[in-house]
Amino acid sequence: MPKKIYLDYAATTPVAPEVQEAMMPFLGELFGNPSSVHSAGQEPRVAVERAREKIAELIGARSEEIVFTSGGTEADNTALEGVAFANRARGNHLITSTIEHHAVLECCRFLESQGFVVTYLPVDRNGLVDPAEVEKAIRPETILVSVMLANNEVGTIQPVSVIADVAKRHGIYCHTDAVQAVGHIPVDVSALGVDLLSISAHKLCGPKGVGALFVRHGTRLTPFLHGGSQERGRRASTENVPGIAGFGQAAELAQVELPTEMVRLTSLRDRMLSGLQQKITDMEYNGDPVRRLPGNVNISLTGVSGEAMLLKLDLAGICASTGSACNSESIDPSHVLRAMGISAEQAQSSLRLTLGKWTTEEEVDRTVAAVAGAVSTLRAAPPAPPSLASVRPGRFNGDAVVLFPDAATSIKGAGVLKEAGIENKLVAPPPALRMGCDLALEIYLSRRSEVEQVFNEKGVNYSRIVSLT
Ligand SMILES: Cc1ncc(COP(=O)(O)O)c(C=O)c1O
Repeated sequence: MPKKIYLDYAATTPVAPEVQEAMMPFLGELFGNPSSVHSAGQEPRVAVERAREKIAELIGARSEEIVFTSGGTEADNTALEGVAFANRARGNHLITSTIEHHAVLECCRFLESQGFVVTYLPVDRNGLVDPAEVEKAIRPETILVSVMLANNEVGTIQPVSVIADVAKRHGIYCHTDAVQAVGHIPVDVSALGVDLLSISAHKLCGPKGVGALFVRHGTRLTPFLHGGSQERGRRASTENVPGIAGFGQAAELAQVELPTEMVRLTSLRDRMLSGLQQKITDMEYNGDPVRRLPGNVNISLTGVSGEAMLLKLDLAGICASTGSACNSESIDPSHVLRAMGISAEQAQSSLRLTLGKWTTEEEVDRTVAAVAGAVSTLRAAPPAPPSLASVRPGRFNGDAVVLFPDAATSIKGAGVLKEAGIENKLVAPPPALRMGCDLALEIYLSRRSEVEQVFNEKGVNYSRIVSLT
């Protein structure tokens, strides 16, 4: 079995060996609390401050403008809620875009429930926000504009410096979610002109569960967590010292490697795209061809279910994605692709391949061949068998489907459920869930545990149960 090919760097990156090494002492002998006055706190405190300096250096900030968080989500939530609640007296209106990560979008939904008003700006076909639209959306009560620097699905890089300039002219705070950008493209908070910027360590070969928010000096922000006075009173809770030490090391590595990695990854990305374009017909490249992260390839393969493609690639030892990992359980097409005006069908047929530090030319070539092979197989897959109509007894509108590896097992599954008195119906699975097998079983989700139990008892090998609600 060949080594796995990992092409999901936008979901998370492997932890660099140097990062692991930097973390180890703080999981052992140097366990002290950085806030302790006694000597055990000293080295952890020094490690936290050293990491802060390295992260500040990577983005051109001052170290006191870096607040450690538990990740990108907390950094985004702190920025949005922190500014919203601290500046409520000035106004209650925020502006963001429709292609933000859920860490921003769900936070906006929460703020709406608290009486704030949010404008969600549209994007063009390449996923770009028009700064003129930002200016048009500004009202006297606007307090914050939040537009991501690089998109996690299609890699589009937004004109954040122009947007920040618009915000500044109107005296409005500007935040950017730079989780996918930092460590991958040059990011400088002065050049961008933003007041707040989110980072996550696990997207730049650091550990999971640690991130940072850049908060420009003078920005009015209500703390997101209430408790101790860590992080100069801006974020309570004892610091994640091993995580922060690893994050600092990852930032240092990224700064050294970024210029060469950008060139290397851009060339690998272009090699992958041209390889795919040569071998596959009816394929669309999603996102901006130029304003794009070096390691991002996102394509739609007409007539091919993205989910089926993922399963085929996984069997071939290749890890890829259809959209953001947080959504991989959902059958909804990507909100990013839909906002870009891509049809639901094309969005369901999308494939995201994200390259990184350990990606090689040979892996790119093997992946191109594997994707092309899977496209031919999946496009050649026969339509639903003619027997399907005969195995559909009457109407039944369950709210979940059970997927099987092959048609014979799904028919067996229907039989054993019937024997156990559990209502079900053989159906064609929704296109997004089709996995080379043309039959699925419709059931009620409320009976999921009974279904699982019957299948386990009777040795029915099903793939998974998916909610349709
Ligand atoms: C653009 C963007 N923002 C925020 C996040 C959330 O970061 P974290 O996983 O560190 O909470 C992610 C993670 O996928 C992301 O891609």
